[in-house]
Amino acid sequence: MKLGDEIQDIDAPELEEVELKKRRISVYSTGALKTAVAIDRLYVNHPGFMEAIQALDRVFQIAGEFEMQQGITIEGPPGTGKTSVYRYFKRTVPASNLFAEGMGIIGVRGIKRTTVGYLIRALLKAYKYPFSSGTEAQLYARRGILIDLIREKGTKILFIDESSAMLTKTSTRSSTQHETDVTDLLREILDECGIGVVLASYGGGASLKHTDNALASRMSVRCALQEFSYDKQWHGLLHAFASQCIEYDLGFIKDRSVGKLIHEATQGNIRDLKRLLTEAVLIGTDTTQLTLNAETLGKAFNEVKGRGHESPNPFD
Ligand SMILES: Nc1ncnc2c1ncn2[C@@H]1O[C@H](COP(=O)(O)OP(=O)(O)OP(=O)(O)O)[C@@H](O)[C@H]1O
Ligand SMILES: [Mg+2]
Repeated sequence: MKLGDEIQDIDAPELEEVELKKRRISVYSTGALKTAVAIDRLYVNHPGFMEAIQALDRVFQIAGEFEMQQGITIEGPPGTGKTSVYRYFKRTVPASNLFAEGMGIIGVRGIKRTTVGYLIRALLKAYKYPFSSGTEAQLYARRGILIDLIREKGTKILFIDESSAMLTKTSTRSSTQHETDVTDLLREILDECGIGVVLASYGGGASLKHTDNALASRMSVRCALQEFSYDKQWHGLLHAFASQCIEYDLGFIKDRSVGKLIHEATQGNIRDLKRLLTEAVLIGTDTTQLTLNAETLGKAFNEVKGRGHESPNPFD
C-alpha cells in the first residue's frame, strides 16, 4: 500500500490564508496590498512569544553539545502564534558553517493520521531527499537515512507543528500502534542525534505522558501561548504593533479606550488582531485615510467577520 496523504508543507501558507488573500486581491488596489503585506509580516516580541523564541535559541545553541535530550513543547489555542515561532525563528537564524543553509531548523506539519511513515516522508522531503515515497514499511526502513541526513546537514532543531493527533492516545488498536511508532522515532532522533525537538500543539503535551512517558520525560521545556486578557500586556502588544508599523499610522490603537474595543472585537487573539489591523490598513489606504480611526476599524471589523455576521460591531 502506498501512502496517499499529501505532505502538508509547513512553509506554505495555510488554506485559510490563501482564501483570505484571494478575496483581498479582488477587492483592494495593489498599493494597498503592498502596504498591508508589511503588517502581515510584522512580528511582535510579546512575553509568551519571546519565551518560546528564547527556549528555541537555547536549544539551538547547545544542540549536539550534550548527551542530554532537549525537547520543547509549545501549546496554545488556534491563532496564538505556534507556527509563527517556527517561521520567525527560521527567518532570523544567522547563517553558519556548522549547518547546511536553511537546514539549521527543519519543520514539518503533522496531520490527523500521522504515521511513522508519513513523518519520515515529510522529513525526507524537507531535506529534499529524492526518494521520499513508498509504503509504510519502505519508509520505515529509511529512518537510518533520515538520521544520517539530520547529522550530515547539522540540523539543530526539528519543529513538528500540529502534533496533537500524534501525541494523543486513541482507543483503536491500529492507530495506537502507529502513534507509538511516531513517538518511538522522535525518541530515537532525540537520542541518536542530540538535537532539539519541538512539538507544537493545541494542548497535546499533557496527553503525551499517557501516550509515551519516555518521550514526555525528554520534553523538558514547556511553553504556553494563549489569548491575551484585557490588561497591561494587551496594551503593550498594541503599542508594539503601532510603533513597529512604519508603513501606516496605527497610533490610534495606543489609546486605552480604543485598545479595549479592539480587545472586544478580537477576544485577545493575535490572529484576529492581525486580520483586523491588516484589513483596516487596506481600507484606510484605499480611502486615502492615512491615519487609523474608529470608522475604518468598524468597516474592517465588518469585512473580517463577513457580511451577515451577528457579532455586535464594537466600533459603531
Ligand atoms: N508575535 C506575533 N507578532 C505578530 N503577529 C503574530 C505573532 N504571533 C502570531 N502572529 C500572527 O497571528 C496569526 C496566527 O499565528 P499562527 O499561525 O502562528 O498561530 P497558530 O498558533 O499556529 O494557530 P493554529 O493553531 O491555527 O495553527 C498569524 O497571522 C501570525 O502572523
Ligand atoms: Mg499553526
